[in-house]
Amino acid sequence: MSGSRITGWGSNLPEKVLTNNDLAEGGLDTSDEWIFERTGIRQRHVGGSTSQMSIHAGKQALDMAGVTGDDIDLVIVATSTPDQLMPGTSATVHAELGIRGGACDMQAVCSGFTYALMAANGLISTGLERILVIGADTLSDYVDWEDRGSAILFGDGAGAVVLEKHDNATLLGFDLGADGLHRHIGYTDHDGKITMDGKEVFRTAVRAVTQSAKNAMAEAGVTAEEIDWFVPHQANVRIIESIASRLGIPMDKAVVTIQDTANNSAATIPIALDTAVRDARIQPGDLLLLGGFGFGMTWASAIMRWEPNV
Ligand code: UT7
Repeated sequence: MSGSRITGWGSNLPEKVLTNNDLAEGGLDTSDEWIFERTGIRQRHVGGSTSQMSIHAGKQALDMAGVTGDDIDLVIVATSTPDQLMPGTSATVHAELGIRGGACDMQAVCSGFTYALMAANGLISTGLERILVIGADTLSDYVDWEDRGSAILFGDGAGAVVLEKHDNATLLGFDLGADGLHRHIGYTDHDGKITMDGKEVFRTAVRAVTQSAKNAMAEAGVTAEEIDWFVPHQANVRIIESIASRLGIPMDKAVVTIQDTANNSAATIPIALDTAVRDARIQPGDLLLLGGFGFGMTWASAIMRWEPNV
C-alpha cells in the first residue's frame, strides 16, 4: 500500500514575549499564579504576522527535507488569521518560498493543521508527490487585552511539515468532525475580538477530542497503550490532562509546550511535534496521536508512525 510520510519539519515564534506577569503588571486583573495553575501557561509570543512566521517555519521544513519550493506540488496554510481577507496567506508563502505548485488556505481554526494534514495525505494518494503543510496564527491581533477570561490564553506562532509520497503509509488512521450548532461558544466577527464561553469550550473539547482519538485509534487498529507520544492541541494543560486520563495515556507521554507558547491555534500541534522531535523525545518508529479541537466546534485526530528517514 502506498502512502505518505513527513520528511521535514520546522517552527517559528515571534521574538516578542509577553509573560503572565507582564499582563498583570499591564493592568489585567490576574496573576501568574492563577494563570499557571488554571492553564499551564507562563508566557506567549506576540507581534507576528501569519505569512512571515509561515515562511520561516516552511523554509526550515523544506531545508530539513532537503528540497526547495520547486519540488513542492502544493502549499496549504491552515489559519484563521490570514494576513488579508484575500488572497490567501498561502499566496505570500508561495511567492517567498518559490513554490512550483498550487497554494490554498484552510480554515478549521485550531483543528486546521490536522485537517490539512489529512487533506494532503489524500491528495498524495491521488498523485501529488510532495506537499508543504503549515499551521500558523496571529491571535494576538484579535485578543481583547482587557478580558481576563480570554486574553491570558492566546499567542502567535507557526509550524510546518513536508509530507511526501512514500511506499508505506505512516499516517495510519484519521478522524475528523464538527458541530456547527456550537459555533456560538467561540467566535470572532470581522473587525472583532475573540469572544468565547471558556467553560463550554473546555467541556465540549474534552468530550469531542476523547471520542475522536478513540475513533482514529480504532481506524488505525492500535490501542492507547501502544501510543508513544500524544501530541495535543495546546489550549489548556487541564484539557490535555482530562483527555489523556480518559484515554488512559499517562501525562509523561503527552507533549506539553503550552507553558512557553500559550495557544497559537493551528500552530500548536506542528510546533509541539517540532519541539519534541528536536529535543529527541520523539524517536523514529514511535507511534504518535495528534489530536485537537477548535472553534466551530471542529476536531481532528491522526495516528502516525514517526518514520522521517532523513
Ligand atoms: O482553542 C480553543 C480556545 N479556547 C479554550 O480552549 C478555552 C477553554 N477554557 C479554559 O481554558 C478555561 O475555561 C479558562 C482558562 C478560560 C477559565 O478557567 P476556569 O477554570 O474555567 O475558570 P472560571 O471561568 O470558572 O473562573 C473561576 C474564577 C472566577 O471567579 P469567581 O467567580 O470564582 O470569583 C473568575 O472570575 O476565576 C476568575 N478568573 C480569573 N481570575 C484571575 C477568570 N479568569 C481569571 C484570570 N485571572 N485570568
